[in-house]
Amino acid sequence: MNRLLQFEKYAHQRLPKLARDFYFDGACGEFTLKENESAFQRLKLLPRVLRGISELTTETSILGVKIAMPICIAPTACQKMAHLDGEIATVKAAKRMGTCMTLSTFSTCSLEEVSKSAPDCLRWFQLYIVSDRHITKDLVLRAKTAGFKALVITVDTEVVGIKYASTENQFTYPQQFGLPNLQDQDGQSPFLNGPYEAAVTWKDIDWIKSLTDLPIVLKGILTAQDAREAVKHGVSGIWVSNHGGRQLDTVPAAIEVLPEIAKAVDNKAEIYVDGGVRYGTDVLKAIALGARAVFIGRPVLWGLTYNGEDGVCRVLQLLLDEFKVAMKLSGCASISDINHSLVVHQSHFWSNL
Ligand code: FNR
Repeated sequence: MNRLLQFEKYAHQRLPKLARDFYFDGACGEFTLKENESAFQRLKLLPRVLRGISELTTETSILGVKIAMPICIAPTACQKMAHLDGEIATVKAAKRMGTCMTLSTFSTCSLEEVSKSAPDCLRWFQLYIVSDRHITKDLVLRAKTAGFKALVITVDTEVVGIKYASTENQFTYPQQFGLPNLQDQDGQSPFLNGPYEAAVTWKDIDWIKSLTDLPIVLKGILTAQDAREAVKHGVSGIWVSNHGGRQLDTVPAAIEVLPEIAKAVDNKAEIYVDGGVRYGTDVLKAIALGARAVFIGRPVLWGLTYNGEDGVCRVLQLLLDEFKVAMKLSGCASISDINHSLVVHQSHFWSNL
């Protein structure tokens, strides 16, 4: 398989219905889900030529740590539904590809197991602030002890978005895998029905900051106002995301709000983006519009379904190969060569007619 689309088709055919619906679902009418991909195609590249690029590097850094490429792994729950190696396969793939893996609170391998499987892979931990703040605090401390290098607090999940296929399936996290990060003393997982409503505020972000010296990234920011507020609260990173179109439907595609957020943040924090990244050119556009790195969610699940660790490597390699060619063809020899002048919205061509 040499195209991401083929991995998607494979996963769609092979996964049992429960897992397929859970992974592929978007919220309500799935308008935002579709927009995430199509918005990238409304952006056009304006390549520069005759730049004599022989050497090319995709190396960059996030929060001061070097990575081989600005294509990283977003947190997705319950990866054992795709492959029995689950998150361990994913972290090993991230290690092989020299990139960062973000582990979900709702993972099916514990954060300690994942760390042990790839101790020197760059790992970030995605945190849901759950209603029991003792559990939340415990997760923060465990993530630090296990060597995670940042806490990614997801802030767009006050309540789980309505997803009709999952509702019809009465989806709950499978009992046989459990949610090992959230097990109580009796080995039970009280959260199998999803994150409980937690009434999270900016004060909780300050509280988490007071618990740890790990850098904080807020995932799920979609407005310049919230991005500015996040900077005021001293976060290190802003992750522009609509949760892969799974939460509030009809919000804009993440790539669409990226430029104004980048402008508002004005380099006071790093910016990342996810949602609908399916081609190397998508990566190029996101970097050009102000992202330090992109994160991918569903394509990792397709790779896992196809062939565990190797499948995830294949998916990452495919995006990397496309990204490299797109860089060369646009006249960019390194990440720092990629800038805003490379991308215009398609309306640009008609504005003077
Ligand atoms: C997610 N996402 C997610 N985000 C998060 O912060 N914690 C989580 O546990 C999950 N779980 C999850 C499960 C599944 C099945 C999907 C598809 C997504 C959202 C994820 O991190 C990311 O924002 C999107 O997946 C990005 O969009 P693409 O790449 O899937 O289009």
